[in-house]
Amino acid sequence: MSDNAIPFGKPMLDQSEIDAVVQVLSGTTLVHGPVTHDFEKAFAERIGCRHAIAVSSCTAGLHLSLFVKGIGPGDEVIVPAMTHTATAHAVEYCGAKPVFVDVSAETGNIDIAAMTSALGDKTAALMAVHYLGLPCDMSAIAAALKPTRAFLVEDCALSIDATFGGAKTGTFGLSGCFSFYPVKHMTTIEGGMVTTNDDDLAAMIAQRKAFGYDRMVGERKRPGIYDVVALGYNYRMNEVEAAVGLTQLRKLDEFQAARARNDAALRQELAGIEEITIFPAHLGRARSSHYCLNAVLPKDGSIFRDTVMQHLSRQGIGSSVHYPGPLPLMSYYRDRYGYRAGQFPVAEWLAEQTISLPVGPHLTEQDARRVGRAFKEAIHMASRE
Ligand SMILES: Cc1ncc(COP(=O)(O)O)c(C=O)c1O
Repeated sequence: MSDNAIPFGKPMLDQSEIDAVVQVLSGTTLVHGPVTHDFEKAFAERIGCRHAIAVSSCTAGLHLSLFVKGIGPGDEVIVPAMTHTATAHAVEYCGAKPVFVDVSAETGNIDIAAMTSALGDKTAALMAVHYLGLPCDMSAIAAALKPTRAFLVEDCALSIDATFGGAKTGTFGLSGCFSFYPVKHMTTIEGGMVTTNDDDLAAMIAQRKAFGYDRMVGERKRPGIYDVVALGYNYRMNEVEAAVGLTQLRKLDEFQAARARNDAALRQELAGIEEITIFPAHLGRARSSHYCLNAVLPKDGSIFRDTVMQHLSRQGIGSSVHYPGPLPLMSYYRDRYGYRAGQFPVAEWLAEQTISLPVGPHLTEQDARRVGRAFKEAIHMASRE
């Protein structure tokens, strides 16, 4: 890409992360240390929850959330059809069955009516994915789950700081799971965080992310002496990652303000293109984290997505697709459970016709306007072909 290229996502790292990493590497504690603890504390404060437990990825957090609750064979867990595979893989790791539900054509979030009719005796949990950062309708979800035994896990991989009715995502479910993969709102390279207000869950996740030891390194009276009291994994975040995360967290207000500004500028540029559907940044009581701007081409296929994305790419503008297939129709899930085309019409439309446009803090407002103009041109070109 040329100098004035605008990638879809770009980690915002500078000397401050390098200094923080060097400081950790110059010390003696690389795992189980104070930086991870400080990062967890600061993250819990930002989200407004009692506990935050750092883990090696959002996927690890999703898995642990189900695992510590004993989800296993015979259980069903509801998963939206339009999500990253991590959401359903976490269910599979436990030996339980993901039950896929179509999504709303207005937001890409789980369709509440379809979700409610999928709830049954075997439903043990619901994975609520805040699609591209716009919170699901948490009141409707809470009402639907109330008469059932199912608990709620929020997949907040793309929704840090998004709110519903003023409360942040990650505070509604039994747990919320965040991702710090490089192109997310903030990064630890790889990494994730589980948030919860449940003291017992927090203790179990902290234990099971570290093999099921009875006490952490700092709590051992005699070094090297511990018991293993449960089956656990090695899902820890190390001190280097935590140092990057803590530094990024201090810049997050600035990053989020840039995202909101870019999203607004891009929306302005795209206003009035009748052929496309732009998913809202705010809807009812939901306020997005502005992960990206989602523009969806018509259902009738009259505009070729490849043509649009290629035009953008020629202009040096990166775009992406979230997600490239309804998850139940991806080979693994289709072969395993026999899902067929036509069962998830909205997710199928999105998978074929959605384009994610960049609004990250690596863009200036002028860049966001340039993306909008290039997109408009691309739509005109592609509709003529
Ligand atoms: C909705 C969703 N959940 C989970 C994940 C997985 O996150 P991680 O790579 O931190 O495991 C992603 C990754 O993009 C995602 O989009």
